[in-house]
Amino acid sequence: MRIAILATDSDPRGLSRLVESGQERGHDIVVLNILSCSVSVSSEKSCVHYEGQELENNFDAIIPRIDVPHTDYGFTILRQFEAMGYYIADTPLALARGRDKFRCFQHLVANKVPIPMTGFAHSKEDYDVIINTVGGPPLIIKLVEGTEGVGVFLAEGEKEARNIIWTLHQLNSKIVVQEFIKESSGEDIRCFVIGDRIVASIRRKATDGDFRANVSQGGAADVIDLTAEEKRVALAATKAVGLNIAGVDLIRSKNGPMVIEINTSPAFNGLEKATGMDIPGEIYQFVEKQAKKHKKSGATSASFVQKLIDNVSNLRS
Ligand SMILES: Nc1ncnc2c1ncn2[C@@H]1O[C@H](COP(=O)(O)OP(=O)(O)O)[C@@H](O)[C@H]1O
Ligand SMILES: [Mg+2]
Repeated sequence: MRIAILATDSDPRGLSRLVESGQERGHDIVVLNILSCSVSVSSEKSCVHYEGQELENNFDAIIPRIDVPHTDYGFTILRQFEAMGYYIADTPLALARGRDKFRCFQHLVANKVPIPMTGFAHSKEDYDVIINTVGGPPLIIKLVEGTEGVGVFLAEGEKEARNIIWTLHQLNSKIVVQEFIKESSGEDIRCFVIGDRIVASIRRKATDGDFRANVSQGGAADVIDLTAEEKRVALAATKAVGLNIAGVDLIRSKNGPMVIEINTSPAFNGLEKATGMDIPGEIYQFVEKQAKKHKKSGATSASFVQKLIDNVSNLRS
């Protein structure tokens, strides 16, 4: 197959693994840097240009690997590919739901997936109410679009909580305030989900007294067997936002597993290191199957295009 990876250069190791694994499976892999793509649309003709040249419409599949700093531009390019009838491994709608932490929580709750109590507000006064709603300090404050543990804070007291919230607010950073699940003891579980399967799961443990278990923050990782309930929750979470490829972060609370985050275009280097698995190989296995089905279903029929347009206009859902 001819497969395009829509990415930036923020994860060169992950990207080269994806390229290498795709080539090993006999695919023709093309890396499209999001920032070198441009789009032109009109009622007669729409197309994507790459480095100024019109792209021939000959990809069997597109795998998005859009990082946080390029969310808006990346999703715009991806929407164009989607509107042109390409098979894409994850839709911009699902990616947008996963990328915004609060929006993601709203979808999870609507689908009865357990999460810690979480709040979102605009004014100083309303944040005071939310601090109480999540059970008061110690509490967690997170950037809505944060990742890899950067922008996740633990506030031990009320004054500290107000200071962090207000400083981030002044900097125009969107945040969520969340109940601190103390009993998780600096551990979380990363479940790598592809389609309706959990292909790998690792437990990550914070080091040096940190409460964040992210490997990028120094956390250690080992392979873990999930309980039946943890599996159910991780799969239900992925389904709730409509993602195909997701990194679901769970924590063990006294009330059972809770989802603290769903990562779109999740990194897999740490996971491969801990499990010895070929994660890109698993991604391609899924993409190959889905891309074939997509062709059979007649991707560019008028009703299909209308469905895509509806999806795009529902992007706020
Ligand atoms: N509500 C919480 N209670 C306890 N620990 C938490 C909570 N939320 C996050 N953490 C810890 O902080 C880490 C980073 O939080 P997460 O929501 O996954 O954001 P990021 O996108 O930065 O990975 C988690 O891996 C977990 O160890
Ligand atoms: Mg996380």
